[in-house]
Amino acid sequence: MIMLKLKNLFKKSEHNVDFDNLPQHIGIIMDGNGRWAKKRGLPRTGGHAVGAKTFEKIVEDAGNIGIKIVTVYAFSTENWNRPKEEVDTLMSLLEDYLDNGLERLAGRDVKIHFIGDRSAFSDEFQKKICHMEKATETNSGLLLNVALNYGGRAEILNAVKEICHKVQNGEFSCSDIDEKTISDHLYTAGQPDPDLIIRPSGEYRLSNFLMWQSAYSELWFSNLLWPDFSKENLLEAISDYQKRNRRFGGV
Ligand code: IPE
Ligand code: IPE
Ligand code: MG
Repeated sequence: MIMLKLKNLFKKSEHNVDFDNLPQHIGIIMDGNGRWAKKRGLPRTGGHAVGAKTFEKIVEDAGNIGIKIVTVYAFSTENWNRPKEEVDTLMSLLEDYLDNGLERLAGRDVKIHFIGDRSAFSDEFQKKICHMEKATETNSGLLLNVALNYGGRAEILNAVKEICHKVQNGEFSCSDIDEKTISDHLYTAGQPDPDLIIRPSGEYRLSNFLMWQSAYSELWFSNLLWPDFSKENLLEAISDYQKRNRRFGGV
Protein backbone atom coordinates (compact mmCIF):
# COMPACT_ATOMS: atom_id res chain seq x y z
CA MET A 1 0.00 0.00 0.00
CA ILE A 2 2.73 2.42 1.02
CA MET A 3 4.77 1.43 -2.04
CA LEU A 4 1.78 2.05 -4.28
CA LYS A 5 1.28 5.48 -2.76
CA LEU A 6 4.95 6.34 -3.25
CA LYS A 7 4.80 5.14 -6.84
CA ASN A 8 1.78 7.31 -7.55
CA LEU A 9 3.47 10.30 -5.95
CA PHE A 10 6.55 9.80 -8.08
CA LYS A 11 4.48 9.39 -11.22
CA LYS A 12 2.52 12.52 -10.45
CA SER A 13 5.66 14.52 -9.81
CA GLU A 14 7.20 13.60 -13.15
CA HIS A 15 4.91 15.97 -15.06
CA ASN A 16 5.74 13.90 -18.15
CA VAL A 17 9.24 15.29 -18.17
CA ASP A 18 11.50 13.74 -20.77
CA PHE A 19 14.70 13.30 -18.77
CA ASP A 20 16.68 12.65 -21.96
CA ASN A 21 15.77 16.06 -23.32
CA LEU A 22 16.27 18.45 -20.44
CA PRO A 23 17.06 22.13 -20.91
CA GLN A 24 20.82 22.48 -20.46
CA HIS A 25 20.69 25.87 -18.83
CA ILE A 26 17.83 27.30 -16.74
CA GLY A 27 17.70 30.90 -15.52
CA ILE A 28 15.55 31.70 -12.49
CA ILE A 29 14.36 35.14 -11.41
CA MET A 30 13.69 34.51 -7.73
CA ASP A 31 10.91 37.06 -7.32
CA GLY A 32 8.00 37.57 -4.94
CA ASN A 33 9.59 37.34 -1.48
CA GLY A 34 8.20 40.70 -0.36
CA ARG A 35 4.63 39.91 -1.40
CA TRP A 36 4.86 36.45 0.18
CA ALA A 37 5.76 38.10 3.51
CA LYS A 38 3.13 40.82 3.16
CA LYS A 39 0.40 38.22 2.63
CA ARG A 40 1.35 36.76 6.02
CA GLY A 41 1.61 40.08 7.84
CA LEU A 42 5.40 39.71 8.07
CA PRO A 43 8.08 42.27 7.23
CA ARG A 44 9.49 41.92 3.68
CA THR A 45 12.76 40.73 5.17
CA GLY A 46 10.99 37.62 6.50
CA GLY A 47 10.13 36.73 2.91
CA HIS A 48 13.78 36.97 1.92
CA ALA A 49 14.81 34.53 4.66
CA VAL A 50 12.31 31.93 3.41
CA GLY A 51 13.24 32.71 -0.22
CA ALA A 52 16.87 31.96 0.60
CA LYS A 53 15.86 28.50 1.82
CA THR A 54 13.84 27.92 -1.34
CA PHE A 55 16.91 28.86 -3.36
CA GLU A 56 19.05 26.15 -1.73
CA LYS A 57 16.29 23.58 -2.07
CA ILE A 58 15.68 24.30 -5.76
CA VAL A 59 19.41 24.15 -6.53
CA GLU A 60 19.47 20.70 -4.96
CA ASP A 61 16.38 19.64 -6.92
CA ALA A 62 17.77 20.97 -10.20
CA GLY A 63 20.96 18.95 -9.65
CA ASN A 64 18.97 15.81 -8.87
CA ILE A 65 16.83 16.28 -11.96
CA GLY A 66 20.00 16.44 -14.04
CA ILE A 67 20.12 20.10 -15.08
CA LYS A 68 23.65 21.11 -16.04
CA ILE A 69 23.54 24.89 -15.50
CA VAL A 70 21.30 27.06 -13.32
CA THR A 71 21.61 30.85 -13.14
CA VAL A 72 19.74 32.47 -10.25
CA TYR A 73 19.04 36.18 -10.03
CA ALA A 74 19.81 37.02 -6.40
CA PHE A 75 20.45 40.78 -6.41
CA SER A 76 20.22 43.19 -9.31
CA THR A 77 22.15 46.40 -9.98
CA GLU A 78 18.82 48.16 -9.35
CA ASN A 79 18.09 46.44 -6.03
CA TRP A 80 20.40 48.94 -4.26
CA ASN A 81 17.45 51.35 -4.60
CA ARG A 82 15.57 49.50 -1.83
CA PRO A 83 15.43 50.73 1.76
CA LYS A 84 18.74 50.27 3.59
CA GLU A 85 17.25 47.82 6.08
CA GLU A 86 16.10 45.54 3.28
CA VAL A 87 19.43 45.74 1.42
CA ASP A 88 21.23 44.94 4.70
CA THR A 89 19.03 41.88 5.25
CA LEU A 90 19.67 40.64 1.73
CA MET A 91 23.41 41.14 2.20
CA SER A 92 23.44 39.26 5.49
CA LEU A 93 21.52 36.36 3.91
CA LEU A 94 24.08 36.31 1.11
CA GLU A 95 26.88 36.41 3.64
CA ASP A 96 25.31 33.50 5.48
CA TYR A 97 25.35 31.56 2.21
CA LEU A 98 29.00 32.48 1.64
CA ASP A 99 29.90 31.43 5.20
CA ASN A 100 27.82 28.28 5.55
CA GLY A 101 26.67 27.31 2.07
CA LEU A 102 29.64 25.03 1.44
CA GLU A 103 28.89 22.98 4.51
CA ARG A 104 25.25 22.66 3.48
CA LEU A 105 26.34 21.70 -0.03
CA ALA A 106 28.76 19.04 1.25
CA GLY A 107 28.74 15.97 -0.93
CA ARG A 108 26.80 17.72 -3.70
CA ASP A 109 28.53 18.05 -7.01
CA VAL A 110 27.89 21.78 -7.48
CA LYS A 111 30.31 24.30 -8.95
CA ILE A 112 29.52 27.87 -7.89
CA HIS A 113 30.26 30.90 -10.00
CA PHE A 114 29.23 34.44 -9.13
CA ILE A 115 28.25 36.76 -11.96
CA GLY A 116 27.87 40.52 -11.66
CA ASP A 117 30.02 43.44 -10.55
CA ARG A 118 31.66 42.23 -7.35
CA SER A 119 33.81 45.35 -7.01
CA ALA A 120 30.87 47.00 -5.18
CA PHE A 121 31.39 44.63 -2.23
CA SER A 122 33.91 44.87 0.61
CA ASP A 123 37.25 43.07 0.27
CA GLU A 124 36.15 40.57 2.89
CA PHE A 125 32.91 39.81 1.03
CA GLN A 126 34.84 39.44 -2.24
CA LYS A 127 37.29 37.05 -0.58
CA LYS A 128 34.38 34.89 0.55
CA ILE A 129 33.01 34.85 -3.00
CA CYS A 130 36.42 33.76 -4.34
CA HIS A 131 36.74 31.13 -1.61
CA MET A 132 33.38 29.57 -2.51
CA GLU A 133 34.28 29.53 -6.20
CA LYS A 134 37.72 28.04 -5.54
CA ALA A 135 36.36 25.39 -3.16
CA THR A 136 33.89 24.13 -5.78
CA GLU A 137 35.84 24.72 -9.00
CA THR A 138 36.60 21.06 -9.68
CA ASN A 139 32.96 19.97 -9.28
CA SER A 140 31.37 19.02 -12.56
CA GLY A 141 27.75 18.13 -11.74
CA LEU A 142 25.70 21.32 -11.67
CA LEU A 143 27.15 24.71 -12.54
CA LEU A 144 25.39 27.33 -10.43
CA ASN A 145 25.75 30.96 -11.50
CA VAL A 146 24.65 33.30 -8.72
CA ALA A 147 23.85 36.73 -10.15
CA LEU A 148 24.87 39.27 -7.55
CA ASN A 149 24.92 43.00 -8.22
CA TYR A 150 24.11 41.80 -11.70
CA GLY A 151 22.53 43.78 -14.52
CA GLY A 152 22.32 42.60 -18.11
CA ARG A 153 23.03 46.06 -19.49
CA ALA A 154 25.97 46.62 -17.14
CA GLU A 155 27.33 43.24 -18.25
CA ILE A 156 27.14 44.21 -21.93
CA LEU A 157 28.67 47.62 -21.18
CA ASN A 158 31.51 45.94 -19.33
CA ALA A 159 32.08 43.59 -22.27
CA VAL A 160 32.18 46.52 -24.70
CA LYS A 161 34.79 48.29 -22.55
CA GLU A 162 36.97 45.17 -22.33
CA ILE A 163 36.75 44.69 -26.09
CA CYS A 164 37.66 48.38 -26.65
CA HIS A 165 40.76 47.97 -24.50
CA LYS A 166 41.79 44.92 -26.48
CA VAL A 167 41.33 46.79 -29.76
CA GLN A 168 43.38 49.70 -28.37
CA ASN A 169 46.11 47.24 -27.34
CA GLY A 170 46.08 45.76 -30.84
CA GLU A 171 44.87 42.31 -29.69
CA PHE A 172 42.29 42.35 -32.49
CA SER A 173 40.72 44.88 -34.82
CA CYS A 174 37.16 46.23 -34.94
CA SER A 175 36.35 44.18 -38.01
CA ASP A 176 37.16 40.99 -36.06
CA ILE A 177 34.37 41.67 -33.54
CA ASP A 178 31.39 39.40 -33.95
CA GLU A 179 28.61 38.03 -31.71
CA LYS A 180 30.94 35.43 -30.25
CA THR A 181 33.36 38.19 -29.22
CA ILE A 182 30.60 39.77 -27.15
CA SER A 183 29.48 36.43 -25.66
CA ASP A 184 33.09 35.65 -24.76
CA HIS A 185 33.34 38.84 -22.73
CA LEU A 186 30.21 38.32 -20.67
CA TYR A 187 30.25 36.85 -17.15
CA THR A 188 28.81 33.66 -18.67
CA ALA A 189 31.64 33.28 -21.24
CA GLY A 190 31.92 29.74 -22.50
CA GLN A 191 28.48 28.70 -21.26
CA PRO A 192 25.48 27.92 -23.46
CA ASP A 193 22.68 30.51 -23.38
CA PRO A 194 19.73 29.74 -21.09
CA ASP A 195 17.18 27.50 -22.80
CA LEU A 196 14.52 28.37 -20.25
CA ILE A 197 13.98 31.35 -17.97
CA ILE A 198 11.57 30.95 -15.07
CA ARG A 199 9.97 33.91 -13.35
CA PRO A 200 7.45 33.49 -10.57
CA SER A 201 5.59 36.37 -8.82
CA GLY A 202 3.22 37.29 -11.64
CA GLU A 203 5.51 39.85 -13.29
CA TYR A 204 5.99 39.43 -17.02
CA ARG A 205 9.40 40.98 -17.53
CA LEU A 206 13.09 40.13 -17.41
CA SER A 207 14.14 43.04 -15.16
CA ASN A 208 17.62 43.28 -16.70
CA PHE A 209 18.38 39.56 -16.38
CA LEU A 210 20.66 37.96 -18.98
CA MET A 211 19.76 40.55 -21.64
CA TRP A 212 22.19 39.24 -24.25
CA GLN A 213 21.93 35.55 -23.41
CA SER A 214 18.10 35.42 -23.37
CA ALA A 215 17.70 36.30 -27.07
CA TYR A 216 16.13 32.89 -27.79
CA SER A 217 15.29 31.65 -24.30
CA GLU A 218 11.87 30.17 -23.67
CA LEU A 219 10.10 32.12 -20.92
CA TRP A 220 7.95 30.56 -18.21
CA PHE A 221 5.94 32.82 -15.93
CA SER A 222 3.84 31.93 -12.93
CA ASN A 223 1.80 33.71 -10.27
CA LEU A 224 3.51 31.70 -7.56
CA LEU A 225 5.66 33.64 -5.13
CA TRP A 226 9.28 32.51 -4.89
CA PRO A 227 9.17 31.16 -1.29
CA ASP A 228 6.37 28.79 -2.41
CA PHE A 229 8.25 27.55 -5.48
CA SER A 230 8.83 23.79 -5.34
CA LYS A 231 10.41 20.95 -7.27
CA GLU A 232 6.93 20.24 -8.68
CA ASN A 233 6.86 23.72 -10.19
CA LEU A 234 10.34 23.29 -11.62
CA LEU A 235 9.24 20.02 -13.27
CA GLU A 236 6.09 21.73 -14.54
CA ALA A 237 8.19 24.49 -16.15
CA ILE A 238 10.52 21.93 -17.73
CA SER A 239 7.58 19.92 -19.00
CA ASP A 240 6.02 23.04 -20.56
CA TYR A 241 9.36 23.95 -22.08
CA GLN A 242 9.56 20.53 -23.71
CA LYS A 243 6.27 21.17 -25.51
CA ARG A 244 7.57 24.37 -27.13
CA ASN A 245 8.68 24.56 -30.73
CA ARG A 246 11.95 26.47 -30.78
CA ARG A 247 12.42 27.79 -34.28
CA PHE A 248 15.30 30.27 -33.91
CA GLY A 249 13.90 32.22 -36.84
CA GLY A 250 13.60 29.15 -39.05
CA VAL A 251 10.42 27.33 -40.00
C1 IPE B 1 12.84 39.01 -4.94
O1 IPE B 1 11.71 39.28 -4.20
C2 IPE B 1 14.11 39.15 -4.16
C3 IPE B 1 14.99 40.21 -4.62
C4 IPE B 1 14.73 41.09 -5.53
C5 IPE B 1 16.28 40.28 -3.99
P1 IPE B 1 11.17 40.76 -4.04
O2 IPE B 1 11.79 41.37 -2.83
O3 IPE B 1 11.37 41.54 -5.28
O4 IPE B 1 9.64 40.50 -3.78
P2 IPE B 1 8.43 41.34 -4.33
O5 IPE B 1 8.55 41.39 -5.81
O6 IPE B 1 8.54 42.71 -3.73
O7 IPE B 1 7.23 40.61 -3.88
C1 IPE C 1 14.34 41.07 -10.14
O1 IPE C 1 13.30 41.28 -9.28
C2 IPE C 1 15.64 40.92 -9.38
C3 IPE C 1 15.77 39.73 -8.57
C4 IPE C 1 14.89 38.80 -8.43
C5 IPE C 1 17.02 39.60 -7.87
P1 IPE C 1 12.79 42.75 -8.90
O2 IPE C 1 11.72 42.58 -7.92
O3 IPE C 1 13.95 43.59 -8.51
O4 IPE C 1 12.25 43.26 -10.29
P2 IPE C 1 11.19 44.42 -10.62
O5 IPE C 1 11.59 45.63 -9.82
O6 IPE C 1 9.84 43.90 -10.20
O7 IPE C 1 11.26 44.59 -12.08
MG1 MG D 1 10.23 41.80 -6.91
